Amino acid sequence: MSTLPRYAYFKGNLVPYADAKIGVLTHALNYGTAVFGGIRGYWNAEEEELFVFRPDDHFRRFLDSAKLLNMAFDTTPLELVNAVRTLLQTEGLKQDMYVRPLAFYEDEGIGVRLHDLTPAISIVALPYGRYIDNEEGVRATISSWRRVNDNTIPPRGKIAGSYVNSALAKTDALRAGYDEAIVLNQTGHVCEGSAENIFVVRHGTVVTPPFTESILEGITRRTVIELMRDALGLTVVERPIDRTELYLAEEAFFTGTGVQIAAITSVDKRAIGTGKIGPVCSRLRALYFDVVRGRNKRYRSWCLPVYKSAPAEAELGIAATSTSVE
Ligand SMILES: Cc1ncc(COP(=O)(O)O)c(C=O)c1O
Repeated sequence: MSTLPRYAYFKGNLVPYADAKIGVLTHALNYGTAVFGGIRGYWNAEEEELFVFRPDDHFRRFLDSAKLLNMAFDTTPLELVNAVRTLLQTEGLKQDMYVRPLAFYEDEGIGVRLHDLTPAISIVALPYGRYIDNEEGVRATISSWRRVNDNTIPPRGKIAGSYVNSALAKTDALRAGYDEAIVLNQTGHVCEGSAENIFVVRHGTVVTPPFTESILEGITRRTVIELMRDALGLTVVERPIDRTELYLAEEAFFTGTGVQIAAITSVDKRAIGTGKIGPVCSRLRALYFDVVRGRNKRYRSWCLPVYKSAPAEAELGIAATSTSVE
């Protein structure tokens, strides 16, 4: 069991974590009518600073996910970023950590629907290390479970109820002796991991499925596409991926806030490439860890300092320009 947070941002106020309680009849608990986010903060020892990675982009997706569940909030991504900053300053974490925002229907009563309900937001933060122990050599399996799609539960948002789909795939993979599951979408194309986006390298080109293949609109995916194109000079193509392309790939890797960037070195016991982490993934990981810890000047605006003065709104990229690669 991980240590519980000391505080929570709960329905607009900062409260002791023990006071952030919900009842057993809560709509979100009974029907999965909640959406969540996952944001990492990285401790930079040289600067004695905690940097939260792309919080504004995470909160934009968070509010988009909420919109999919008919939730309307009178709040902006910037206000939520500021709430996180205050929460972290109060919590006082000085190590790598994770922020978990949750938007949930708080009504207590019976009745499946998405209308005439009251949405609420909570945010907590806790220390966090690796999500998968062996980021340099993940042994994956193709799951027998198929990914939900846009006409069942929209996977482009982080909808709590749809994570039953991820949990089914993950547990089966672990019980079969693998580290992670790769799920196919309804058309049988490679979709993503249980909680990660996926990339393969074929004939020197980096390939990843587009949003219309039932994937989550991952922030790390966006980040690494930009890093690979602009900083590493690689060609990145978004197109559907066949299952057997995975088996023939030179490299494959997962990306996600939790998993960061993890090399997939085998799929269903077939070695990917040499069976060891490859050059694209190695270079990308080195760059990524510099970027997220605020050590790379070019991408420093993605990192929100928690304890020293925060950058202006424009620097956070909140206002005018979108950083989307789509
Ligand atoms: C199903 C799924 N795909 C992909 C990702 C990666 O998304 P991100 O990079 O925004 O964390 C996650 C994790 O949040 C996820 O749950």
